[in-house]
Amino acid sequence: MKVIDQHIDSRMALYNGDSCEILKGIPDNSVHFSVYSPPFASLYTYSNSERDLGNCKNHSEFYAQFEFIASELFRVLIPGRLMKSLLSGRKQGIKIVKQS
Ligand SMILES: C[S@@+](CC[C@H](N)C(=O)[O-])C[C@H]1O[C@@H](n2cnc3c(N)ncnc32)[C@H](O)[C@@H]1O
Repeated sequence: MKVIDQHIDSRMALYNGDSCEILKGIPDNSVHFSVYSPPFASLYTYSNSERDLGNCKNHSEFYAQFEFIASELFRVLIPGRLMKSLLSGRKQGIKIVKQS
């Protein structure tokens, strides 16, 4: 796994890095709760990195990359556990429960 920084103890593992890279190293059905706020193509500039989803050139490029991340997030989530995502600038989100 390519990580910039990490913290692992008996209760949690926190990784700082490109989610496309980090997620590939996380085992299936191992995450108890997933919460994230993805960027949107061209809405804000968060960094100069080409790995930053916020720097996708258009919506189809964004959705192609986000589809990979979303499927990996679903793969690592334990059945019956929650995934929460903020998908707009409003105080709304979607809540997904992975069924077994
Ligand atoms: C909408 S912001 C959310 C920021 C954070 N949740 C907060 O409240 O401060 C999206 C963040 O995702 C980061 N990001 C974009 N692509 C990423 C990637 N491939 N892996 C990890 N983070 C990424 C962006 O740089 C930005 O900081």
